[in-house]
Amino acid sequence: MALRTIIKAPDPRLKLKAAPVGTVTPDIRQLMADMLETMYAAIGIGLAAPQVGVLARVVVADVAKRDAPRQPLVLADPEILWRSVERASHEEGCLSFPEQFAEVERPARVRIGYLDETGSRRELMADGLLATCLQHEIDHLSGVVFVDYVSPLKRNMILRKLRKAKRLEAPADEEERAAL
Ligand code: NI
Repeated sequence: MALRTIIKAPDPRLKLKAAPVGTVTPDIRQLMADMLETMYAAIGIGLAAPQVGVLARVVVADVAKRDAPRQPLVLADPEILWRSVERASHEEGCLSFPEQFAEVERPARVRIGYLDETGSRRELMADGLLATCLQHEIDHLSGVVFVDYVSPLKRNMILRKLRKAKRLEAPADEEERAAL
């Protein structure tokens, strides 16, 4: 397994659409394992393949509490088959938007069809945090990010902060390159 680099916003790659996987090959299984490792290392609860620069419809998630046993979920070609009319609002964050949070309203419950790590077709019902998390991750596969749901004012504020954070990081990156 290997850690992958998480793309941070603003970055045009986060706006790209991912292609269906079709079959869960050994390469896709490797991607799933790497994504889980990367998500746990970053202390996230979900990660989508485009966030690590791979345009494949794969997401991973684990919404178990930090002191509880891990409950990893990997989904290839996830599809939302049903959405509840009832909606719920949660404060969302994203590993591609470090330290930025915003309230987002989405359907409270969803039924999702997907392929698991063995390539078997499965379905799950999600509510609460898992419903929010999986809808957020599936959005990434279409180039949609959580700040697309907030007011332009709030979105610009978040993107300004992230641009500034990138500028502050840049000198360290250059030093690293010079050392190679
Ligand atoms: Ni995200």
